[in-house]
Amino acid sequence: MVSRVYLIGYMGSGKSTIGRHLAKDLGYEFVDMDSYFEEKHKCSIKQYFADYTEEGFRKAEHEVLIELSRKEKVVIATGGGAPCYYDNIEIMRTTGMVIYLEVAAEDLVKRLQGQCDKRPLLAGKSHDELVSYVSEALEKREPFYRRAHVAMDGEHVPFTLYATIVKAFPVEEIRDSSVMKAALFDFDGVVMNTEPCYTKFWGGIGAKYVPNIPDFAQKIKGTTLADIFANYFPNPELQKEIEKAIDDYEANEMEYEYVLGARNYIMQLHSSGVKTALVTSSNETKMSAVYRAHPEVKEMFDTIITANDITQSKPHPECYLLAAQRLGLEPGECTVYEDSINGMKAGRAAGMRVVGLYLTHGREVAERYADEVIRDFMAE
Ligand code: S3P
Repeated sequence: MVSRVYLIGYMGSGKSTIGRHLAKDLGYEFVDMDSYFEEKHKCSIKQYFADYTEEGFRKAEHEVLIELSRKEKVVIATGGGAPCYYDNIEIMRTTGMVIYLEVAAEDLVKRLQGQCDKRPLLAGKSHDELVSYVSEALEKREPFYRRAHVAMDGEHVPFTLYATIVKAFPVEEIRDSSVMKAALFDFDGVVMNTEPCYTKFWGGIGAKYVPNIPDFAQKIKGTTLADIFANYFPNPELQKEIEKAIDDYEANEMEYEYVLGARNYIMQLHSSGVKTALVTSSNETKMSAVYRAHPEVKEMFDTIITANDITQSKPHPECYLLAAQRLGLEPGECTVYEDSINGMKAGRAAGMRVVGLYLTHGREVAERYADEVIRDFMAE
């Protein structure tokens, strides 16, 4: 039987109540992560938020989770936001069975009314504010909650059934933590939110050279420069001109801003012993501009692969296979983070697990090509 059970779900979904029953039925210890946190820090969560902001709380919560993930024979009722920050959901999935207690937003609001004061994120909200806040937060958190091994109807399933389900759960389903030995990140739209800049750039090129093609910038998204040239700009002189314009734009005008939570997420993985690689189709010239704006990028990755290192562009798996080789790992030990269709295809073709970010092409597309989907690296 599994040695650790994590209950995840929104505030008020019944994690502590169900957790207590389940622990008793299994003969396991019960730990309420929030209470454990408060005891460890000798401070209420509300006060911790006030003193160190939510960001400080999330960092400290991550450390608490690492501690708890080493306990044996334990049922852990996690904090409602815990699975949605850093690689917390990965830690849970690889060290125990994760159960999502699914409760509809309206039912959560009914349960949470009257007990908002001790919860810093809900304090001071009226009924209507609570309804819209909970619905929106739930939607953002769902992709993380959905990564649980099992989802249970938190409203109607009798407490006694949980132990039966845990006992029947095949231990092999829990991925050995060695599976995720490396995280390989695409750059544009994954590490940095450059896509709006590219839309602007290609919109300008479209208007200048192919004004008869509507939505040109959208049409070419996710395709390689070679394809764009072959399909729309066969004239070699013009290709040279456009290439120069891109280099100028990337070096001088492009804004390099992190995708929400990306910097923290990658640094956390890196410092917790997971190898990290940047695998981009961008060339060295552009990457030099990136390093000028963000020198820390070089420190965040064990290896960086650019267009200059490869001969075949995504969806060919060459770039990802090369990253695994440089890190001395098997493809099956690597997870790829991608936002473009070609990128997700490349990750799959390399035999790697693919996490798709759905900000660029929408959720449906990401769900088709990735094993798991996330909006960004932060739930809120
Ligand atoms: C939070 C949920 C709380 C607690 C903190 C933040 C959240 O835990 O960790 O107030 O972000 O949803 P419960 O879900 O146990 O209330």
